[in-house]
Amino acid sequence: MEQVRFGIIGCGVIAPIHAQAIQETPQAKLVAASDVVERNARLLAERWPVDVYTDYRDMIARDDIDAVSLCVPSGLRAAIAEDCARAGKHILAEKPLEVTTERIDRMVRAADAAGVLLGCVFQSRFADGSRHVRKALDDGRFGTLVLGDAYIKWYRSQEYYESGAWRGTRKLDGGGALMNQGVHQVDLLLWFMGPVRTVQARTGLVGHHGLEVEDVACALLTFECGAMGVIEASTAAYPGHAARVEVHGSAGSAIIEDGELRFWKFRAEEPEDDAIRAGLNRAAALGSGAGDPTAALTHEGHRRQIEDFAHAVLEGRKPAVDGREARHAIALIEAVYQSAATGETVQMQG
Ligand SMILES: NC(=O)c1ccc[n+]([C@@H]2O[C@H](COP(=O)([O-])OP(=O)(O)OC[C@H]3O[C@@H](n4cnc5c(N)ncnc54)[C@H](O)[C@@H]3O)[C@@H](O)[C@H]2O)c1
Repeated sequence: MEQVRFGIIGCGVIAPIHAQAIQETPQAKLVAASDVVERNARLLAERWPVDVYTDYRDMIARDDIDAVSLCVPSGLRAAIAEDCARAGKHILAEKPLEVTTERIDRMVRAADAAGVLLGCVFQSRFADGSRHVRKALDDGRFGTLVLGDAYIKWYRSQEYYESGAWRGTRKLDGGGALMNQGVHQVDLLLWFMGPVRTVQARTGLVGHHGLEVEDVACALLTFECGAMGVIEASTAAYPGHAARVEVHGSAGSAIIEDGELRFWKFRAEEPEDDAIRAGLNRAAALGSGAGDPTAALTHEGHRRQIEDFAHAVLEGRKPAVDGREARHAIALIEAVYQSAATGETVQMQG
């Protein structure tokens, strides 16, 4: 096999980003698209010439499809992924992988049993700034980690929540500002800082009405490494600000906004640090969803991740973000919701 042949399931807002990213990846090819709303699949097919299905089960019955991009609403993915795994298709699912860890575990079991790969789109990990931070952590440049924080002060209008019946529902969105929008930065924070030991949190619905989920969340964390940190997330902070992740240690600090470095300083400087700092004020390469879910969303992050996923399929290795890896963010968000509901400090399982 030289190319991984993809079918897309769910042709809404995010699907064109997948289509374009697949088409720009030499190791991948887009073959088909399916949506229960035929018009949505046909709209995609107008731009990328693909076969159209209204029942994904007909699409995954084809032998010439190797993998699916799973772009349906978050809480619909487990059952569809199980079908895809049984059909022998590799699965690249949008974030959050599913809306509970129990459902994610089902997906992981199904993929393992079928011997297919399960990946989750966390494109922020593929941004240049994120990669610099991860490498500096691997090289021990931060010293002892002291603080790790994520701030997602975004804005989504009431109309945004009303634009799809699933948005803002507990069952299909799984949560609000944290589970849908903030999950990227929660994932980055855990990727950088490692597992969380304890969580104290509050959540609320402050700036919208009629949602079953939070539009504000604040959490106080202690990490297993001994560092502390906070998460602040909202979808009611007009006009929306760049999403920020901060890592501070005894020997260095880095701050990322929308995947791009905004601060980079270490006690022991390396020759490449000046070049890295010279790029600090560049516009965000992967776009920002701060005020609008689509306005600045580019496909570059997805392209990098789809390239990794296609290579993983062709080389028979794990993708950079597999199901077990993607589960960590959802486990932490579940702990935030549990702490907010009970008022108790939640101890996370190791
Ligand atoms: N990675 C990112 O930055 C990013 C950005 C936006 C959305 N997302 C994620 O992508 C997912 C979809 O979000 P969206 O904004 O595109 O939603 P959307 O409502 O615009 O699109 C979902 C599509 O799925 C279709 N669908 C529903 N059930 C189906 C089924 N059983 N079979 C086939 N199609 C079905 C709907 O008809 C709709 O066209 C969400 O989980 C969201 O969290 C990720």
